[in-house]
Amino acid sequence: MRIINCKLHHLSEPLAYQLDHTSFSWQVTESRGKKQEAARIVVRLGAKTVADTGMAALDSLGTKLAFELKPRARYTWTVRVRTDAGEEAESDVNSFETGKLDEPWAAKWISCDSKEPRHPIFTKRVLPQKSVASARLYVCGLGLFEASFNGQKIGGEYLAPYFCDYRNWLQYRTYDVGGLVKDGGELSILLGNGWYKGRIGFVSQTEPFFGREWLLLAELRIKYADGSEEVIGTDESWQVTRSAITFSNIYDGEWRDDTLEALPAVNAYAAKAPEAPLLAAKSLPVTAHETFPAEIIHTPAGETVLDIGQNISGIFRLRVREKRGAKIHLQFGEVMQNGCFYRDNLRSAKAEYFYVCDGNEKTIEPKFTFYGFRYVKIEGTEHFEKGDFTALALYSDMPQRGWVTTGNALVNKLVQNTRWGMKDNFVDIPTDCPQRDERMGWTGDSEVFSETALYLADPVAFYMKYLYDIAEEQKVWGGIVPDYVPFVGNVPSCSSAWGDAATVMPWNMYLFSGDKSILEDQFDSMKAWVDYLTEIDGDDHAWRTHHHYGDWLALDSPYGGVEQVRGGTDEGFIADVYYRKSALLTASAARVLGKTDEAEKYEKLAARILEGIRDEYFSKTGRCCIATQTAALLTLSENLHDPEKAEQALRKQLDISGGKLRTGFVGTPLLCRVLSEHGMADKAFELLLNEDYPGWLNEIKLGATTVWERWNSLDQNGMISSTGMNSLNHYSYGAVVAWIFNSAAGLRPREDAPGFVSAVIKPCVSKRLGALDMSYDSSAGKYRVAWKVEGDRRVILDVSVPFGCEALLSLPLSDEEPKTLGAGDYHFEYETADAIS
Ligand code: BGC
Repeated sequence: MRIINCKLHHLSEPLAYQLDHTSFSWQVTESRGKKQEAARIVVRLGAKTVADTGMAALDSLGTKLAFELKPRARYTWTVRVRTDAGEEAESDVNSFETGKLDEPWAAKWISCDSKEPRHPIFTKRVLPQKSVASARLYVCGLGLFEASFNGQKIGGEYLAPYFCDYRNWLQYRTYDVGGLVKDGGELSILLGNGWYKGRIGFVSQTEPFFGREWLLLAELRIKYADGSEEVIGTDESWQVTRSAITFSNIYDGEWRDDTLEALPAVNAYAAKAPEAPLLAAKSLPVTAHETFPAEIIHTPAGETVLDIGQNISGIFRLRVREKRGAKIHLQFGEVMQNGCFYRDNLRSAKAEYFYVCDGNEKTIEPKFTFYGFRYVKIEGTEHFEKGDFTALALYSDMPQRGWVTTGNALVNKLVQNTRWGMKDNFVDIPTDCPQRDERMGWTGDSEVFSETALYLADPVAFYMKYLYDIAEEQKVWGGIVPDYVPFVGNVPSCSSAWGDAATVMPWNMYLFSGDKSILEDQFDSMKAWVDYLTEIDGDDHAWRTHHHYGDWLALDSPYGGVEQVRGGTDEGFIADVYYRKSALLTASAARVLGKTDEAEKYEKLAARILEGIRDEYFSKTGRCCIATQTAALLTLSENLHDPEKAEQALRKQLDISGGKLRTGFVGTPLLCRVLSEHGMADKAFELLLNEDYPGWLNEIKLGATTVWERWNSLDQNGMISSTGMNSLNHYSYGAVVAWIFNSAAGLRPREDAPGFVSAVIKPCVSKRLGALDMSYDSSAGKYRVAWKVEGDRRVILDVSVPFGCEALLSLPLSDEEPKTLGAGDYHFEYETADAIS
């Protein structure tokens, strides 16, 4: 028996994360027992025990312990588990380290001439006087920073201190630099523009949104072997030199000129501290992951284009050996058109890199930008060779959790593309796309994709930062959840199905992780959103007529022109349905948290909204008056009225469209799930496996390596359908992957025992798909569901349930009653009564 995956706040060995409370979790594996009987957490600071639960009934998915935290202290902890088979085992020693907490900084914010475009490097000599035991660097640099010691980059992060509404809060990052500084040398911190000091959002095409000044705060704390400490903080004694980077921002790229003369060092000056509170880390680190070599294409237009074979978000490494003064230019795009380089769908984002060579051979890499790309046009080289270019995928570092392969290669590619869509749009915040002049935290996209993300990976810590961003915006804007968060506009607008991210996401995260502290942290935000809706809805249902995105990009739009983006389902109906859903989720959260009065209040509100929905959108006998696929899907998924009538309506709508989907951002995530839950699994598989337009596999047949924003992002001839709003890397429609996990494999968490402690396994088998093999490393342990259809009737099913868990299994196409399985591996083989479709 072993104890694994010991985490604090869903993080392994966190270094200086913002800890407003402590929540410990762990898993048991290789055990003879089936369940944890008791566990004991011991937390130590040095040799001193600061918390000891004793053997007790602890929740392995999230046990909160209250003890006083000291600043900059390294705590160790172990958990000992006893199982129902009487075995006991103890985890390895885990650790976490606190940040500065409320301790004042022994450093000043400093700055330098911010009109000078050459990006500043702030430097300080560090000469340890004695033998170094350990050292930490606490740093926040705005817009972005990269710290180095003796020219060596500190930490593996890119784009720190990341993207938040810098008017609301800022984060500092912490690095273990003991090994680096022990022999002394130069600490240098290079700044870039990033989201803070570069253009971002729709407000301005040229000006920085948050601030114009380079700002730096850093504190290097060296602990000597004799127990003494030296603190080196930023102040006027720091020197400022200028780097060769002359321009950078998120959308447009970076320029570097290595022929520039070094400028004389000047002293930094003290600057006014930003007004927003400075917190310890909340973001997961954005780090480099997969690398891609490139194929060289010589296009009919005479261009040299590099193809890395996969649409990614990231940067590159380029080996250069050109003569002094040579100007290298790279441009980034997602797709080739007529065999040539293309990037018009990036709108105003220039997405480029300029480099002026100094004549020395070297490898260069951008520092303060990222691109969404598969293709790179390269100009200005005479000695470029294939191996000189490597692409690096950059995204927030989080464990992958779910894997599924099927008997259909295109479906497997869809899962792979969706995973890439997730990686590419998880660059610190969940973005809509990584390439054009947006890359913003659109709430609707995050809301519809969050379930899929939770099956594919463990995004809980990543999303907690985003939900914090949402909650902070709500505090400023009176409960509104702006359409995109961090909010980079003047006055926020909000929409149904977008703002409801504030309720849907924490609930999904709770369901998947079983950690109640998520709901505790987000409860006020959930309430604030619903209360805001109640306020604007007033007595005359004003929320219905508010601006909404509706079933965004659905194919049944009655509108023409620019309005065509809104689908055919009445926006007021969608608004009411989501309003009720948010009220219900807030009520459910209140129940989990034991807040009965609030639970009742929001349940009553939900009942009132339902009445209003029925009055306005349903006939007396329960027929929905809105004849669209999405209206029928919402009616069924949200139990709005007579399910039989809605099923009939859904069948009819599918018949009318010739069995093809017509849904947008709201309907698409529901489509296959609702079909399979209402006896139409054959239709769900048909839609999934359809290779014609519109459909998921159609995109793949047209060469997609990620998921497109529109069903017709490319026309059937491979030509881009429009340039106004057309990304090839939007993950929203990838939400069908959740259905592959929750219905085709059939593994779902249960509300009454979240975190997969008790799961439902109800697979849907399909002869057309042939086979499926899914494993999911849930918060509670690893599940597996694998099925195969042999001949017309034979089902072969393998199921694994992890330690401490039980699953209610329904055998597909069988009359047998569902059975409860405890931890263990199970094998079933049987013939079905009817032929399998
Ligand atoms: C974004 C979306 C977003 C939408 C809202 C687009 O520009 O890319 O995905 O949800 O606007 O309408």
